[in-house]
Amino acid sequence: MSDKHNAGDVPTTGHVWDDDLGDFINQPPKWWMLGLTVSAIWVVVYWLWYPSIPLSTTGSFFKGIGGWTAIAEMEADKSVVDEVRGKYEAKLKDMTPAAILADSELTEYVTRSGKVLFGDNCAACHGTNGVGTHDKEGLFAPILNDDDWLYGGTIDTIHETIVGGRQGMMLAHKDMLSEAEIDTLANAVAAGKPTSTPLFAEKGCTGCHGDDGKGMQAMGSANLTDSVWRFDSSIEGIKKTIKYGVNSGDPQTRVAVMPSFKAAGKLSDAQIKKLAVYVYKFGGGRAAN
Ligand code: HEC
Ligand code: HEC
Repeated sequence: MSDKHNAGDVPTTGHVWDDDLGDFINQPPKWWMLGLTVSAIWVVVYWLWYPSIPLSTTGSFFKGIGGWTAIAEMEADKSVVDEVRGKYEAKLKDMTPAAILADSELTEYVTRSGKVLFGDNCAACHGTNGVGTHDKEGLFAPILNDDDWLYGGTIDTIHETIVGGRQGMMLAHKDMLSEAEIDTLANAVAAGKPTSTPLFAEKGCTGCHGDDGKGMQAMGSANLTDSVWRFDSSIEGIKKTIKYGVNSGDPQTRVAVMPSFKAAGKLSDAQIKKLAVYVYKFGGGRAAN
């Protein structure tokens, strides 16, 4: 034992056990006492400064004299974000989708918010990242990340589609054609050579699908010469399309409706522009001609 604890210098509590086992009254070290005092003061100050004491079971509480709230802190952070976004949003307002696309910084900004908008509004029908969704009748909604377009893949036609919606219309031909004619046409279409039969022109298919059968983007008539299929591509499936048409009003018609997001009022003009750029950027977008 050091001298400091020498029983001779330090007073004891007076308790003695076994004749010479005593209880010293040693002061704790200075640094320790200082720490204790400072932390006691700290606790009180902290307690008063920040929201702390619950006042009732209904959720009221002592608000703290510092006025700090988590909400205020979040608002402050948010206003920093809003300021950055505000600059872009103000710019976007008067720009056409094509002009946005020409500005790489804006395109990057728009693509980021476009992703969320697409997930919320479009992915249910078009699939995540526009991979398309299928049902047993074929594609329920078209693939958007390829370069095959019903209505054209320029930034303006994509924008028009989202604004106004689309509804491809093909007549039901079941009363205009014999079973044999339907069979001939279906086989020609399945082979990717619709014009190989004179029926294609004679029966008016060319009126909507074009003289070459490659489709007309103004009416969204599918290209019948490629291997990209909108609906069931089996002979039976093709016959069904020819017989009952698309959105024709026939009870067995194929249904293909792209809703108008402008009419639905769910999206602002700016959001629709963002989506047009986002969809274009899937990779299948085409330069305007
Ligand atoms: C209710 C389902 C549904 C929703 C929701 C929907 N679409 Fe569509 N979309 C369709 C269908 C069906 C078509 C094909 C219309 C046709 O065949 O005439 C289509 C067509 C399109 C086309 C044209 C494709 C082409 O080949 O020319 C684009 C672009 C498009 N949608 C983008 C969007 C975007 C962006 C959204 C979200 C804002 C969206 N769609 C939401 C069902 C939907
Ligand atoms: C009134 C215009 C119109 C006429 C007439 C018309 N079609 Fe169509 N057809 C369309 C449109 C529009 C689509 C695409 C629908 C869609 O994808 O939303 C289509 C789609 C099809 C498809 C589906 C292609 C696929 O990828 O799944 C086939 C097959 C087809 N037409 C064959 C014919 C044949 C054969 C004739 C003549 C007997 C004909 N069509 C006449 C407008 C027409």
